[in-house]
Amino acid sequence: MNLEEIKKKAIENVSSAKTTEELQNIRVAVMGRKGGLTEVLKSLKDLSIEEKKKIGATANELRDELEELFNAKEKELKKQEREAKFRIDVTRPGHKISRGNTHPLSIIDKEVRRIFSSMNFSVVEGPEIETEYYNFDALNIPAEHPARDMWDTFWLKNNQQFPISNFQFPNKSEIKKPKTKNQKLLMRTHTSPMQIRYMETRNPPFQIIVPGRVFRYEATDASHETNFYQVEGLMVGEDINLANFKFVVEEFFKKFFSAEDGFASDGEKIEFRYRPSYFPFVEPGLEVDIRIGKGKWLEVMGAGMVHRNVFDAVRYNPDRVQGFAFGMGLDRLAMIKYNIPDIRLFYSGDVRLTKQF
Ligand code: PHE
Repeated sequence: MNLEEIKKKAIENVSSAKTTEELQNIRVAVMGRKGGLTEVLKSLKDLSIEEKKKIGATANELRDELEELFNAKEKELKKQEREAKFRIDVTRPGHKISRGNTHPLSIIDKEVRRIFSSMNFSVVEGPEIETEYYNFDALNIPAEHPARDMWDTFWLKNNQQFPISNFQFPNKSEIKKPKTKNQKLLMRTHTSPMQIRYMETRNPPFQIIVPGRVFRYEATDASHETNFYQVEGLMVGEDINLANFKFVVEEFFKKFFSAEDGFASDGEKIEFRYRPSYFPFVEPGLEVDIRIGKGKWLEVMGAGMVHRNVFDAVRYNPDRVQGFAFGMGLDRLAMIKYNIPDIRLFYSGDVRLTKQF
């Protein structure tokens, strides 16, 4: 190929190059070690001085010219490629911003509060650090009573200062003088101490629920955790009885496992079973089982009529008022509702769980 041909071909190829990669290949073909132009330059040494001067000069000029041409084209192509990469396509779907999800226990907590509120229950909360008095004694579980074994307890060192005293109801004037014995501190093992705290500061009739975190000093497995959530219920009045309890509880579960959730339609398919049981602060005491569809019977709550010793402790007259109390595990409700096999998943911090809600 002579220089004219090389030039013509190079210009042609360069102008039709579509990508920087293509352009680079053309550059190599012309000016690379074995490129057309390079071959010409190499062959100069075999020519006469005259020709060397003439062709040499033209070849060098051509090399500079082509160099410039390649560089200009490269710049242009690079710009095009950059623009293509960052082109704003207004019709393209946006990137989804990933948001946090609500923890299943929070969903259940909210749901429980909503349903009981709709039945005119007030929602109250209490301290997680309790005294022995509220967690046990006032609930008819004196020291040395074997029933204390039902609740494996985390005891706290009493010389530490914990903010338990900041728990207060708004109208202080009604607060009766609390008993001061057994101030030994512990992590509450159930939400029942709030029965006492509430009744100390209020007069019947009333109906409340107490959702909250509780603690047990025990080995963990698929159905046990050292901390979990309970919802306490308490309804006290002049003639509250077990029939009232049955109504409230059945109403709650029918709403909780409602048609919208793909469970029994309007609660039709939920069955209830009441078994006698023992808790020191109720008499009679019972346990409630439910069955959804034709599934397994599931134990869902402990309950009973408030024991007179409990009314004594809060200076209610046990001959004039009565009431029912119940306690259920929020985690357990969530596990049943969402088919979660292991309670520990709730506290694992694993977003693969929460992402599903
Ligand atoms: N506090 C009991 C528990 O944690 C549950 C319960 C509450 C039972 C109220 C009866 C009445 O096991």
